[in-house]
Amino acid sequence: MPVTTVNHEMLAVDGGTPVRKTLLPYGRQSIGDDDIQAVVDVLSSDWLTTGPKVGEFEEAFAAWVGAKHAVSFSSGTAALHGAAFAAGLKPGDEAVTTPMTFAATANCVLYQGATPVFADVSSDTLNLDPDKVAGKITPRTRAILPVDYAGHPAELDTILELADRHGLAVIEDASHALGAEYRNSRVGSIAHMTVFSFHPVKHLATGEGGMVTTDRADYAEVLRRFRNHGISSDARQRQAEGQWHYEMVLLGFNYRLTDIGCALGVSQLKKLEVNLARRRKIAARYAIAFRDLAGVTAPMVRAQANPAWHLYPIRLNLENLSADRAQIFRALRAENIGVNVHYIPVHRHPYYRDRFGYQGGEYPIAEDAYERLISLPMFHGMSDGDVEDVTRSVSKVISHYVHD
Ligand SMILES: Cc1ncc(COP(=O)(O)O)c(C=O)c1O
Repeated sequence: MPVTTVNHEMLAVDGGTPVRKTLLPYGRQSIGDDDIQAVVDVLSSDWLTTGPKVGEFEEAFAAWVGAKHAVSFSSGTAALHGAAFAAGLKPGDEAVTTPMTFAATANCVLYQGATPVFADVSSDTLNLDPDKVAGKITPRTRAILPVDYAGHPAELDTILELADRHGLAVIEDASHALGAEYRNSRVGSIAHMTVFSFHPVKHLATGEGGMVTTDRADYAEVLRRFRNHGISSDARQRQAEGQWHYEMVLLGFNYRLTDIGCALGVSQLKKLEVNLARRRKIAARYAIAFRDLAGVTAPMVRAQANPAWHLYPIRLNLENLSADRAQIFRALRAENIGVNVHYIPVHRHPYYRDRFGYQGGEYPIAEDAYERLISLPMFHGMSDGDVEDVTRSVSKVISHYVHD
C-alpha cells in the first residue's frame, strides 16, 4: 500500500479534521457467536470451575504449541509466579531479565523473594541481548527470563546454551508471542517453561488467563499444585474417586482458571491460525507503508523468526523530527488512532528505582528505545480500512514534523 502524501492537511491536534471519526484502539478481542455459545454451554453445566474444560483446553493448547504439558492459570502474571516457583527461585537467588517488558515479568522474581537483574536489549528486536545476559551471570543466578517483545521470539538457542552451561532454568515470557516461530518451532515448545497470557488484547482471550507449557513432567506437577493451594489432587478427581481426603504439600495459591474461561479458550484456539495470519498481513502492510517514510523505523524481523505480532511498535527517528514522542503521540491520538507506548523500562518505575537505586542510564539501548517507541493499533479484528487509517495518520503526522 503506497503512503498517501497528506502533509498539506492540517493536523487534527492543530484544529484540522481527524483521519477517523472514532477512536481505533491499539488492541481488542474478537468474540464470535461460537465463543458466546461455548461459554453459555458451560454456564448451564455442572462445572463452572476446575471441570472438564480445564483439561480440554490444556491438552488442545499443549498440542497446538507442541509441548508435552500445559498448565492453565488465572492470569499470565499468576503463570509467571508459578514458573518462578517451579524453577525453585528463592531468597538470595538472582534471575536475569529484560527491562523492556511489562513489570509482571520481573515482579514474579520478587514474589519468590529473589532479585531480578536486568540486562540490556539488542537494538534491532529490543529482546534480551545474550551477550549482556552472560555478563550478568553470577554464582547466585538461577534463571533467565527472556521476553518475546511484541511477539518476536527472543534469541532462544543462545540463551538456552548459556543456561545449560551455568545450570539455569529458562522461563520464556511469551505473553506477546502465542503462535510465533523460532527456527521453525513454535514458541512454547522450546524453553524449559514458556508463559502465555490470555488478556483480551492478546491473540487468544479468556478475559483473564494464562498458561505455562513445558516438556518436564516434574515442572508440570509442581505447577498444577501451586495453582491449587499446593494441594495434591483437585475437587473433580476426588469426586470421581469418591474421596474426601487431600493433602497440602506445598504453599500454593488459588490461581485456577475457570471452566468458563477455559471453554472460551478452547473456542478461541480454533481460530488462532486465521487470526495470526491476519496479524501477519497487517504487519506486512505496515512494513510496506513505512518503508520509505523518513522519520520512523518499522520493527525489524530476524531471519530465524516468524513473529506473532502482538504489538506493532514503530520507533521515531527523533534526529529527523521537529517534535518529540509526546507531541507525536498526542497528534496521532487527535487523529483518533489509539496509539500506546510499550514499555517504560521496568527499572524506571518508582518501585524499582527506589528499591534497587536505579538512577537511569544503566540500560542505554532500552532507555533510548523507550524515548522513540509508539505502538500502533494491531489486532486481528482490524479491517483494511482501519489499517489504511493508521498508515494515513502516521504519514500525515510524521510528514508534518519531518526535516532533513
Ligand atoms: C510481557 C508480559 N508479561 C506478563 C504479562 C501479564 O499477563 P496478564 O495480564 O495475563 O497477567 C503481560 C500482560 O500484558 C505482558 O505483556
